[in-house]
Amino acid sequence: MRRPVIAGNWKMYKTQAETRAYFAALAPLVAGSTHCDIVVAPPFTALAAAVEAAKGTSISIAAQNMHWETEGAFTGEISAGMLLEAGCRAVIIAHSERRQFFGETDERANKKVKAALAAGLTPLLCVGESLAEREGKKTEEVLERQFRGGVAALTSAEFSRIILAYEPVWAIGTGRTATPEMAAEAHQFLRQLAAAAFTPERADMLRILYGGSVKPDNIKGLMAQVEIDGALVGGASLKAEAFASIVNF
Ligand code: 13P
Repeated sequence: MRRPVIAGNWKMYKTQAETRAYFAALAPLVAGSTHCDIVVAPPFTALAAAVEAAKGTSISIAAQNMHWETEGAFTGEISAGMLLEAGCRAVIIAHSERRQFFGETDERANKKVKAALAAGLTPLLCVGESLAEREGKKTEEVLERQFRGGVAALTSAEFSRIILAYEPVWAIGTGRTATPEMAAEAHQFLRQLAAAAFTPERADMLRILYGGSVKPDNIKGLMAQVEIDGALVGGASLKAEAFASIVNF
């Protein structure tokens, strides 16, 4: 039985003051929600405020990106160790917006996954095809390349510590959700890849989240699919009430 994960990716939203107000509203709404892991990923500048505000709750804090080196002359970058020290438990890696706008490659994603694991963070590795790729019938090819690239050279034990997120680019921020069946099909394909790259047992334990226009009114249908182990929520995670109702699907 895979434990569900509901994660909120705030992207470049919320100040520290907004972060404190959000957690004050969210905490009581999810206080009894023991059926899933709850994760919130604020921007770097709000991490400390989020960690402080989430103390005594079951909400874990994640970062949205990191660098693969432990330290060095890398202006503007943050290491896994720094995130851990700030109180993060997880880190989103290779979100499609980083792939699209900031030159994230599978090779870099792989370095980041390894560095996150080495530091003791849970990597939340994102994969997903664009609309042109889906329409060109390239979905499986893209997912296979991103998956294999992202988890390359991981040991089976390391692989057991990652979470995968399937986020079709065409469904992100567009209000156009993949149907539960479409998402489940992609998840099943990813699980087959995991079984081939590692073992069927590892694949069976891998948690695969769906992301792309997840809202309070479509989460139930998505979570009804056995292949879908949770959600990575963007826009709807910005309002505590909406995110709480997704958590409490
Ligand atoms: P939306 O939920 O806003 O479509 O964003 C999804 C996403 O990118 C989460 O990482």
